[in-house]
Amino acid sequence: MRILVLGSGAREHALILALRSEDAEHAIFAAPGNAGIASDAHLVTLDPNDPVAVAEFSGAENIDLVIVGPEAPLVAGVADALRTRGIPVFGPGRAAAQLEGSKAFAKRIMDAAAVPTGRAIRAQNTAEVAAALDQLGAPYVVKADGLAAGKGVLVTDDRTAALAHAESYLPDAPVLVEEFLDGPEVSLFFLSDGDAVLPLSPAQDYKRLRDGDAGPNTGGMGAYSPLPWLAERFGGEAEFVDLVTREIAEPVIRQLDAEGTPFIGLLYAGLILTDAGVKVIEFNARFGDPETQVVLPRLVDPLSELLLAAASGNLEERPRPAFAEATAVTVVLASDGYPEAPQTGRRIRGVDEAAAVEGVHIAHAATAPDGAGFLATGGRVLSVVALGTTFREARSRAYEAIGLLELEGGQYRTDIAARVVED
Ligand code: AMP
Ligand code: GLY
Repeated sequence: MRILVLGSGAREHALILALRSEDAEHAIFAAPGNAGIASDAHLVTLDPNDPVAVAEFSGAENIDLVIVGPEAPLVAGVADALRTRGIPVFGPGRAAAQLEGSKAFAKRIMDAAAVPTGRAIRAQNTAEVAAALDQLGAPYVVKADGLAAGKGVLVTDDRTAALAHAESYLPDAPVLVEEFLDGPEVSLFFLSDGDAVLPLSPAQDYKRLRDGDAGPNTGGMGAYSPLPWLAERFGGEAEFVDLVTREIAEPVIRQLDAEGTPFIGLLYAGLILTDAGVKVIEFNARFGDPETQVVLPRLVDPLSELLLAAASGNLEERPRPAFAEATAVTVVLASDGYPEAPQTGRRIRGVDEAAAVEGVHIAHAATAPDGAGFLATGGRVLSVVALGTTFREARSRAYEAIGLLELEGGQYRTDIAARVVED
């Protein structure tokens, strides 16, 4: 198959590694990719956010399937441009991508589909924010109503800080003040062809920068999959996945279809398991990063077939994807200063040594070539991914490998997947 992957992060590298391992014969193109992806795909100089450029390249190169990694090309209408030309694309059009791009849109769809989520109040000025904070009470949750790559949220007990955060967006952008949802967080991905829905295996993401969930929110500092502790509460992973499919994913996909904005692509449900049931904290319209790095290596079915079936409206004929028993852990290496002001241009050493640890591979996020080595070019630099038969094994492999990497000022969490090996 001739496949074009849009994006340049560790998620895109993970997608490409999964495609490579299923079939070495695939011709894989990445736009723009990164220095690690360059070993596994042909890099294309193309603006992934330019619908016309992506559609023209895909037509000229006889691309069989376009996979959109990040949200920006979706919101820019890249999938619409491809579909207009009859090129199969895994990713929703601009209208359905509003599920991620506008939190107000997502809340409206959830209300219409009777999907459980926290209460939210949209506020346009300081007085409205203050009233909403007092109505919903502490802890306060304040977020921008637009794309913020997971960094636009403040969760705090400090009312003054909550107001100041809202004022940093106002008056240009409205803000949402939300009910605080308390409980463990789970990411669950669904493939959809606009009608049928197939769940993948759940993962847990670590959003805060530092150990013990301290520090600012980030794009995600690590993840693991599967989630053995779901069994205590739901009887097993399958029961949990069934529940979320039935009560959350299917109603949302039906609602979007009924409104004439069918969702073809990856529905990412960010969930909180509250005492009052599973509630949606957010939807994304694309694979999660770094969850993809731990979900895809466990996927047994060929990824390209699943994504092409979704892109072509043929998901209904397929059984639910199967996942290996293996455990997967990923730890993200981030630059000094991430997330506020990442230092870039520093040399990374030890990548080959880290990748040589048993069960480990490296997904590149923000790297550029530097002679035979690499330079860090952004906030999240590399995802170290380890597989094992137990979490103890996968986790110790991941930390052995990340310990071999050298990046001046580099930061990583030391508690990823710690809770699943405490015994
Ligand atoms: P979001 O930008 O909506 O993806 O939120 C990013 C992160 O902030 C989530 O993954 C949660 O960890 C936290 N968060 C957002 N909204 C809430 C909420 N209503 N209650 C508790 N935590 C939240
Ligand atoms: N890991 C969170 C996200 O991809 O949005």
